[in-house]
Amino acid sequence: MSLLSVQNVSKSYDDTPILKNVSLDINKGEVITIIGQSGSGKTTLLRCLNLLAEPDSGHIYFLYDDLTDSTTDINKMRQQMGMVFQSFNLFSNLSVIENCMLALTEVLKMDKKQAEERAVKYLTKVGMQNFIHKSPHTLSGGQQQRVAIARALCMEPQLMLFDEPTSALDPLLVDEVLNVIKDLAKEGMTMVIVTHEMSFAYEISNRIILMDEGEIVEEGSPEQIFKTSQNPKTRNFIGNFLKKQIKL
Ligand SMILES: Nc1ncnc2c1ncn2[C@@H]1O[C@H](COP(=O)(O)OP(=O)(O)O)[C@@H](O)[C@H]1O
Ligand SMILES: [Mg+2]
Repeated sequence: MSLLSVQNVSKSYDDTPILKNVSLDINKGEVITIIGQSGSGKTTLLRCLNLLAEPDSGHIYFLYDDLTDSTTDINKMRQQMGMVFQSFNLFSNLSVIENCMLALTEVLKMDKKQAEERAVKYLTKVGMQNFIHKSPHTLSGGQQQRVAIARALCMEPQLMLFDEPTSALDPLLVDEVLNVIKDLAKEGMTMVIVTHEMSFAYEISNRIILMDEGEIVEEGSPEQIFKTSQNPKTRNFIGNFLKKQIKL
């Protein structure tokens, strides 16, 4: 069975259907990117995966447990699913290393020394080892996002979810974050990434999912989505993107 299986998930807000019968399987080691216009339901889908948003119907199986079953320990499952948001959401009153240690000591009940070692390990992985005692507000957006990634990695999750991790960044800072994510992909981390960075999606994905109006329009290899798709919606989305590129 796949690591995560989304089966016929639907979700409405105020009677407006936002996700319509979405099904999706994610295998261990896969990198999946979700692309699609703003408002197509990408964030809502990601939030349903770790139950930050509750599906109205359907099932989500993760590590064999049904997340939509009220007896499943959601907090325990969330520890296995790291999430990185567009806005880095670091705690501004804590230093870089304290941000990374917090859940280790408070949730995993690690002792301080062990937590510190683990935090340093993952801050080193994202190239932030020289900033561990800094306050988040003294860092650039790219640096803050790398700390947010390290903080999620500290929990040693089975799955990482990224929601437009570079959208809030100055264009010059995008690559340092994408490179960290590329390194994780090389190491075999299972990831679901919502992004508008199309070359990145093309390069990194095992599978790309195109969403439109709450539905999965098409899923396939980067070649299929970008080059050989016969689906008019896919061709239209990719075509519009390419046009924008040429204007630059
Ligand atoms: N908490 C919410 N309450 C009401 N409407 C919401 C909520 N979250 C998202 N929506 C609506 O759902 C639609 C899809 O949003 P979203 O999942 O954020 O799309 P995307 O991430 O693809 O831009 C949008 O029309 C948005 O306004
Ligand atoms: Mg979104």
